[in-house]
Amino acid sequence: MEKIYLKDYEKPAYEVKTIDLEFELHDTNTLVKSSMRLSRKGKENEVLFLNGEELELISIFLDGRELHESEYELSESGLSLHQLPKEFTLEIHNAINPEANTALDGLYKSGGIFCTQNEPEGFRRITYFMDRPDVMAVYSTKVIADKKAYPVLLSNGNLFEKGDMDDGKHYAIWKDPFPKPSYLYALVAGDLGCVNDSFRTMSKNEIELNIYCDKGNEAQCTHAMDSLKASMKWDEERFGREYDLEIYNIVAVDSFNMGAMENKGLNVFNSHYVLADADTATDTNFMGIESVIGHEYFHNWTGNRITCRDWFQLTLKEGLTVFRDQEFSSDMNTRSVQRISDVKSLQERQFVEDASPTSHPIKPDAYIQINNFYTATIYEKGAEVIRMIHTLIGEANFRAGMDLYFKTFDGQAVRTEDFIWSMQEASGFNLEHFKLWYSQSGTPEVNIQTAFDKDTRRFSVTLTQSYLSPTQIGQQPYLFPFKLGLLNKNGQENSLKLASNENQPLLDKGVLIISKEEETFIFTDIEEEPIMSLNQNFSAPVKVHTSYALEEYAFLMEHDKDEFNRFEASQTIASMVLHKLIDTIEANGPLTLSDVYVNAFSKVLLDMKMDMSLKADSLTLPSIAILMQERKVLDVEAIYMARNFLKREIIRSLGADIQAQYTSLNHSYEYTLDSASMARRKLKNTLLSYLGALKDETVILNQYRNANNMTDRLSALSILANSREEGKLEALNDFYERYKDNTLVMNKYLAVIASSELKETPMNVKKLLEDEVFDIKVPNLVRSLIGTFARNALHFHAVDGSGYSFIADKVLELDKINPQIASGLAGVFKDYGRLNEKAKVLMKSELEKILSTKELSKNVYEIVSKILA
Ligand code: PHE
Ligand code: ZN
Repeated sequence: MEKIYLKDYEKPAYEVKTIDLEFELHDTNTLVKSSMRLSRKGKENEVLFLNGEELELISIFLDGRELHESEYELSESGLSLHQLPKEFTLEIHNAINPEANTALDGLYKSGGIFCTQNEPEGFRRITYFMDRPDVMAVYSTKVIADKKAYPVLLSNGNLFEKGDMDDGKHYAIWKDPFPKPSYLYALVAGDLGCVNDSFRTMSKNEIELNIYCDKGNEAQCTHAMDSLKASMKWDEERFGREYDLEIYNIVAVDSFNMGAMENKGLNVFNSHYVLADADTATDTNFMGIESVIGHEYFHNWTGNRITCRDWFQLTLKEGLTVFRDQEFSSDMNTRSVQRISDVKSLQERQFVEDASPTSHPIKPDAYIQINNFYTATIYEKGAEVIRMIHTLIGEANFRAGMDLYFKTFDGQAVRTEDFIWSMQEASGFNLEHFKLWYSQSGTPEVNIQTAFDKDTRRFSVTLTQSYLSPTQIGQQPYLFPFKLGLLNKNGQENSLKLASNENQPLLDKGVLIISKEEETFIFTDIEEEPIMSLNQNFSAPVKVHTSYALEEYAFLMEHDKDEFNRFEASQTIASMVLHKLIDTIEANGPLTLSDVYVNAFSKVLLDMKMDMSLKADSLTLPSIAILMQERKVLDVEAIYMARNFLKREIIRSLGADIQAQYTSLNHSYEYTLDSASMARRKLKNTLLSYLGALKDETVILNQYRNANNMTDRLSALSILANSREEGKLEALNDFYERYKDNTLVMNKYLAVIASSELKETPMNVKKLLEDEVFDIKVPNLVRSLIGTFARNALHFHAVDGSGYSFIADKVLELDKINPQIASGLAGVFKDYGRLNEKAKVLMKSELEKILSTKELSKNVYEIVSKILA
């Protein structure tokens, strides 16, 4: 299949100045009329190619004259026109079928709502257009629809006019004054409920804010609305960015391929990231809403006002906007807690991706299907790269660089180099070497060696970086900030002084700048051999290796001043213990647990001064996904056994303390959403998960029964879903009956069942496929049930290959419905290379089955062929 390369980029031959659209909405036969003002940029006779897919062309008019079929060429992928004047008007009429659009790309129906999704290449499924982000036009839209069925008619920009028509129809005209690429175009029509509010900007403009949802759900929009106002204020204060239209609309829909979309003035959201109340949403859901509402709002400047020249630049807007939303969440909540959660998700998803056959740089140089590149790498690693620039040049220079970026490139479609230029220009820091982070893939590893000389009181630290990638060759060492602290025996940090002959700069707060394959730093005036706290606050997205034993990590877990590293030490020590257990299981040896670990765990448990959220994170064992990364050959059962053994040992040694602390936290508080309450619930539920390893499930059932919020209820339910005892059925049935009419909550139910370790899980999942709450056309439900099961390593990697063949069949079934969702699911096969021989044979035949299927989508083809290569 055809590959697209960055190096082949060419400027568009024509410019579209304005486009006026008119839609007559109809379920199966929507009529689209487009009228464009175009002008030629390239040489005479330059062909005009307009992308168009699954469109029914009706007629074309050039400067008012209807063209004969012989005057253009029509293909599966679009329309070519020749011999065009320098300036002209092109009017095109075509028809589309929104109801048949199960790919949810372009104009489609979700429930009773018409909505659009055009990033990255959906607009070509609406009308013929130069569907590429460097074509920025001024849009106006007239929407016509039945007034009763679709009282709300929305598009980008400001409302210009609306009115009634005969035969029960009405119309609305929207005008967006800002030129934008087609991927930011949006249209919505439906019978929607609405929550209305307003925001006064720093230059005293009153902005109308609306959140639209299914009728009856209005009360669940308050958190989203609060988050929107907070985002608007934050972007003014932290980045000096103000909103630029009179109105900001958000629409929540149930069927959506991703989280949300930043269409200019008209965001379309997966309802998962809008609707929440105490009874139906967890604390994590509330946090997710704040962050995604912020993310889409921040795109208005980083993405919309300044957009991407081509899709290879995707991280220009996504990495930067994720960085901005992470900073927003940090300022709104507890910074270190936010950092831990962001890094955890990076390690669990991005590190895994970067070690797999689908590994790619944050700025890829080729793709078959751009939809496959909305990845943890482009987003999360992209954000880490921006964060490293922030660390290297400091907050003030970073802000100046952002200001310069906005000033220089507003209204343009640009490249990542333009962003780097702004940062370099504003700070004077040479970022040339740093750019390797954009072109190289793989997670760098840093090895640390030290030497201490008591007489000269010098401590030297040698860093060696390795920078291999599973998909690239010929890589170079990176430049990155590396923050460290040197602790003495009572936990105090030494002040850091480099020997005077060092030419490397030491930025403030202990940040070294690493740029070579191997470098040695000599610290002076060190009285006793220190213990290092390395890569503090996760200053660079790398893996660090030391020769430290459990004792040193236990020490850091107790004493580190850097809260992130206190957490990281807890994960490192647990991983060391777990990997040793896994090795022992694989060698059929007897399992024992080191006292060092139990003592370290117990110190954290009994530390009553520690932030409760940090404590909860530190007491949480590394996930199966994290543990799997470190195994050369996967033995999934051994990993589960080791983790369960460790849990049981912890509860055996520290059960009384865990029980007591759980009880002291388990008062019936009123449900509030402040950081302290969320932290308390998180700790309580972390302790509860250990109590789940006990035979007696009364405590867990009681929490389920008495819960006054979803966080507590769902935590208890997911523990019970793994239990073999009686109470499980009571809770699961109760949950189902209570919430079966709420699809967002049913997602949680499906995920709880699909993630259970019990042996009946595959059977339960198959049963739920037939349940009335499930619908394979709705991406959230597919992700919750099938996606969760596919990530349930114990069952996915079942030794008889049944997990592989089940998921392969679902990939193929979904590919006919929604290729984007199908290829997302196909990604779970990426551990192929690390399977044992028997499993490999089984998985291989499933992958080959997929690849040999007729009319396979580009999406699935690209992922599966990379895995098999
Ligand atoms: N641009 C969206 C975001 O990150 C993500 C998205 C991509 C949504 C493609 C839909 C389709 O904010
Ligand atoms: Zn985004």
